[in-house]
Amino acid sequence: MNIKPLLARRVQGLKPSPIRKLVPIMRMPGMISFGGGYPNAQTFAFTSVDAVFKSGRRFSIRDKAIDLACQYGPTNASTDLLPHIIKWHADKDGVALKAEQIQVLTGAQEGLHAMAYLFLDEEDSVVMSEPTYSGTLGAFRAFTERFIPVPLDAQGMITTELEKVLARMKSAGERLPKFIYDIPHGHNPAGVTLSLERRRHLLQIASRYDLLILEDDPYQMVLLEDQEPLPTLQSLDREGRVVRLDSFSKIFAPGLRLGYASGPAEVIGYFQLYK
Ligand SMILES: Cc1ncc(COP(=O)(O)O)c(C=O)c1O
Repeated sequence: MNIKPLLARRVQGLKPSPIRKLVPIMRMPGMISFGGGYPNAQTFAFTSVDAVFKSGRRFSIRDKAIDLACQYGPTNASTDLLPHIIKWHADKDGVALKAEQIQVLTGAQEGLHAMAYLFLDEEDSVVMSEPTYSGTLGAFRAFTERFIPVPLDAQGMITTELEKVLARMKSAGERLPKFIYDIPHGHNPAGVTLSLERRRHLLQIASRYDLLILEDDPYQMVLLEDQEPLPTLQSLDREGRVVRLDSFSKIFAPGLRLGYASGPAEVIGYFQLYK
């Protein structure tokens, strides 16, 4: 899909930071660069960071690894972390991501803010279930107050209602929303999971109206005991219109505030510019 017409005005002229292009050069052994404000690793406060897991496993970050961890690094992800995310995502969702389809974030919350920053002008709207996660409303409100509510039931967002809302907007000649936002597993605050049938329907609707979908999925792996995760919207998408937010907050430790956005390389390229 062509995302250019969907971008917010503030993003149209956004250019990559020249400092980012200097990173590989600055990392060349023996290079003393005056091109960026890179501090000397010898001045960093840490010699090592040791972690002991409840399982008894231990690991230590030291020597070159601790210097790298403390230094400014690539925008999209640490080069050590990236292959782990690619494998994790493939094992979990059956989706093979390329490096340029991933942007590591300070939690999914940053992804909500990034998405709004990239796509929402004041006159734009977003479709979402009612009720929805208050943190999403908080992130989006900095850019627009136009939220188009769709009711939900035990199967998640009622997609036939979504269809009606969009048809009504179109026939009234109204500006269509920029994207559909949903929390497809263990919805916050409703607790419901979007059924497989509705996942497919949601994608069909997005295709018909040429909309992006923001799949905010922090509860995919913390469902009730009798529930299995369903295929993600991203895994069902054949047209590159799903931007997915994964979070390690609910399954690892929220204090680390680690998450990532994944999706079409062009959209993730804009996430990288944002970051
Ligand atoms: C639906 C939803 N999205 C995003 C977040 C934020 O996740 P993170 O801790 O990764 O920023 C939360 C946290 O409660 C949430 O419930």
